[in-house]
Amino acid sequence: MKIQAVTIFPEFFDVLDISLLGKAQEQNILDFSAVNLRDYTHDKHRTVDDSPYGGGAGMLMKAEPWGEALDELLAKDGSTVLVVPTPAGELFNQELAAELATKEHIVFACGRYEGIDQRVFDWAATKSEMKMISLGDYVLNGGEVAALAMIEAIARLIPGVIGNAESLVEESHSNGLLEYPSYTKPAIWRDLEVPEVLRSGNHAEIAKWRLEQAIERTKRIRPDLLD
Ligand code: ADE
Repeated sequence: MKIQAVTIFPEFFDVLDISLLGKAQEQNILDFSAVNLRDYTHDKHRTVDDSPYGGGAGMLMKAEPWGEALDELLAKDGSTVLVVPTPAGELFNQELAAELATKEHIVFACGRYEGIDQRVFDWAATKSEMKMISLGDYVLNGGEVAALAMIEAIARLIPGVIGNAESLVEESHSNGLLEYPSYTKPAIWRDLEVPEVLRSGNHAEIAKWRLEQAIERTKRIRPDLLD
């Protein structure tokens, strides 16, 4: 899978070189690059922002550098998915991550300031599939941190990125429930004991206990998931 992130802070994405995603890049399972939006400006100050029409606080990102960058990055056959991280988008979740993990090419458009001129999106939507996606109901300073979270959630679902694919099956949100509690050795730590059933070796009982725990935990912490 090829992923590109357009940003005025390419160095934000250096963390993708470490751990499992770093390995996935070395193995050519993941082809990631950060693209500097300022490379598509033509003035001495490499300007990417201007004041908004109609007034209001803050600055907006100009259409021209975004247009030139996306002209270059979006595949001409419309096969690219353009993802715009924004608090005004649909909520990101595991289902959306799984859908995006099936794509060949994703471009993340990381805005800063008060956002990007709306015409960039109106135009891009005629060239590519486009998704405006929010990480949650709070506001970050820009799209970079949100893009990083989405890239990790998406890339770990690509076959070969996670060594033990079984760990994807039982984790939180894979079955609509939060994950059950887990324990490792020692059996007793600071007077706290690992539940007996997990040490019983009875796999049917263990599976039943884990499902009960997952349902109880989901009811208590995220009842909305059960609706
Ligand atoms: N950019 C700023 N806030 C954001 C959020 N909550 N989700 C995605 N992108 C953002």
